[in-house]
Amino acid sequence: MSIRSRYQSYVWVEHLSRYVGETVTLRGWVYHRTRKGKLVFLRFRDGTGICQCVVFKPNVSEEVFERARSVTQESSAVVTGTVREESRAPGGYEIDVQELEILHLAVDYPITPKEHGPDFLLKHRHLWIRSPRQAAILRVRAGVERAIRDFLDGNGFIEADAPILTPSACEGTSTLFELEYFDLGNAYLSQSGQLYAEALAMALGKVYTFGPTFRAERSKTRRHLTEFWMVEPEAAFFTLDDIMDMAEDMVEYIVQYVLRHHRRELEFLGRDLGKLEKVRRPFYRMSYTEAVEWLQQHDVKLHRKTPDGKEILVDFPWGEDFGAPQEEALMEQFDKPCIVHRYPAEVKAFYMKRDPEDPRVVLAMDMLAPEKGGEIIGGSQREDDYEALKQRILEHNLPLEDFQWYLDLRKYGSVPHSGFGLGIERTVRWITGVEHIRETIPFPRMLYRIEP
Ligand code: 4AD
Ligand code: MG
Repeated sequence: MSIRSRYQSYVWVEHLSRYVGETVTLRGWVYHRTRKGKLVFLRFRDGTGICQCVVFKPNVSEEVFERARSVTQESSAVVTGTVREESRAPGGYEIDVQELEILHLAVDYPITPKEHGPDFLLKHRHLWIRSPRQAAILRVRAGVERAIRDFLDGNGFIEADAPILTPSACEGTSTLFELEYFDLGNAYLSQSGQLYAEALAMALGKVYTFGPTFRAERSKTRRHLTEFWMVEPEAAFFTLDDIMDMAEDMVEYIVQYVLRHHRRELEFLGRDLGKLEKVRRPFYRMSYTEAVEWLQQHDVKLHRKTPDGKEILVDFPWGEDFGAPQEEALMEQFDKPCIVHRYPAEVKAFYMKRDPEDPRVVLAMDMLAPEKGGEIIGGSQREDDYEALKQRILEHNLPLEDFQWYLDLRKYGSVPHSGFGLGIERTVRWITGVEHIRETIPFPRMLYRIEP
């Protein structure tokens, strides 16, 4: 017989439907209070949901009624009462209160039901996360992460953690956070676990890293963070086609999982669920070259600066990387994600394999999300030839000695292999439909914000 501990007997708001007609004790915070004569209505939240607690004067002691009348927003409390089904109440259940004990009376909680500006809210992020909208987004985020692990574990991928402190760059040297590492010189915060994932794939076959990654990007946009979470599957023997198929499967799985398990939160956030229902394989695909032709045919121009500083608009030139305006224009025609593949070698990372059929391009792919979701995945088949990779490292002016271990993977039993990285916050932003990426991570790190 297993022992049932006390914590297992706590009743949570999300499970109230199991207790209709019974007397339960809830622990939580007062979200909102209204009074009407002999009645006090408390919106009570415990993190799992909100329920209305009704305090009716004739049913309780004088002390309890007085406590209910004067309790303040975000005070913590323990409520005991009978569960009643009430379709008009938020969450569908109400508590007829018998007892109310205040654990701690909150004084002047700064976030009131009135509108606050984003700067104020971000400064109070440690409290803002208590609001139902923020809590709903964070629940969806947890669901996205659960779905990812579910999908990868179910497909035989081994979770293997890559280091955060690294001696060299993975995604270009211009976005590195640098720090001093004792007597060993400079170290950097990891931009991607990929190089280590490749070594791990040669040891374990199919792996994924999942952790925080860092980019010292001076981008102040709605889709850039300086610290974000990335899951990076990497598999030996997989080709570009294999990871494109797998990326589609994984994103379909994530979206359908969240629809199944977090419908309530998505509805609360006002998300158009019909659009998410459509996210089923096959997604759309086009090569970079086809995408450029489309942009040219549809007159999506590029802003260019002339040598004397004038802004001009030019036809989108083959060879240029896409920015948000091009990606968004391209995606307007699509109701589900689109994979763009085979980008010009010049705009992509050193480790990507050239296309044997067209050496101007690499075997890379980006998955773009519809509804202005932007790039959620970047991946590629990796260069597996020792000499070719060494050449690329030199061309990119990277210090060869730092990459000797990485070259070793091409020296001892090299195999074709591929992988990709999916940005958690970009994905949560698209699925929840929130405007700004800062709401998709508990404590966002951005160009102008490191606190709280
Ligand atoms: O396209 P990226 O730079 O690819 C890599 O880092 C590869 N090493 C991944 C791999 O092949 N294993 O980044 C991958 C994803 C992007 O598609 C985007 O979703 C997210 O990471 N991302 C960011 N998210 C938030 N803020 C930023 N500054 C981001 N930069 C990239
Ligand atoms: Mg990318």
